[in-house]
Amino acid sequence: MILFVNACVRSESRTKKIADALLKKLGENYIEVKLEDIEFPKTTEDFLHYRDTCIESRDFSDSYFDYAQDFARADTIVIAAPYWDLSFPAVLKQYIEHINVLGITFEYTAEGFPRGLCNAKKLYYVMTAGGNYVPGKFGFGYIKTLAESFYGIEDVELIKAVGLDIYGTDADAIVRECIEKI
Ligand SMILES: Cc1cc2nc3c(=O)[nH]c(=O)nc-3n(C[C@H](O)[C@H](O)[C@H](O)COP(=O)(O)O)c2cc1C
Repeated sequence: MILFVNACVRSESRTKKIADALLKKLGENYIEVKLEDIEFPKTTEDFLHYRDTCIESRDFSDSYFDYAQDFARADTIVIAAPYWDLSFPAVLKQYIEHINVLGITFEYTAEGFPRGLCNAKKLYYVMTAGGNYVPGKFGFGYIKTLAESFYGIEDVELIKAVGLDIYGTDADAIVRECIEKI
């Protein structure tokens, strides 16, 4: 099963267009998680207490845990996120907070190191940026580190198109070129 984590916002999203081309190439049906449509619970102290109680008793029957379960079960993961403020939309970080569940997506070794419990062998990260100053540290770099260290997904691939908002640039041509490479 392919899981498509869609953090795109605009109806004309270039990031989504590239992700769609990738999903078509991957050729299987996919489950889409459109982050904008999700009302994540507020991570209040009470909520964290409830969540910890479930984790301690290994009771993941609450549908809240479905996002984490789907993530852990997927064979391939495609994350699409525009480059915002040197990283990605906050809703993607929110999603990560809710899928990083001890006992579902990862666990800790006796030495205190995370060990991945995810099934996926491959994670694609699709992004577009307006400019050409696109350090990967806080966006793709963060996702790659999470995938490798927390989820146990070794094969992490970046697909990107940058410089799309530079005055006079043919953004469509850049997006087209990126899609052709896929
Ligand atoms: C809130 C916000 C923050 C952004 N921050 C950056 C940024 O830090 N660097 C950059 O190059 N572009 C930035 N951009 C431009 C987007 O990365 C660019 O327009 C991107 O292609 C949008 O993707 P989309 O077409 O999928 O919506 C930002 C855009 C928005 C709306």
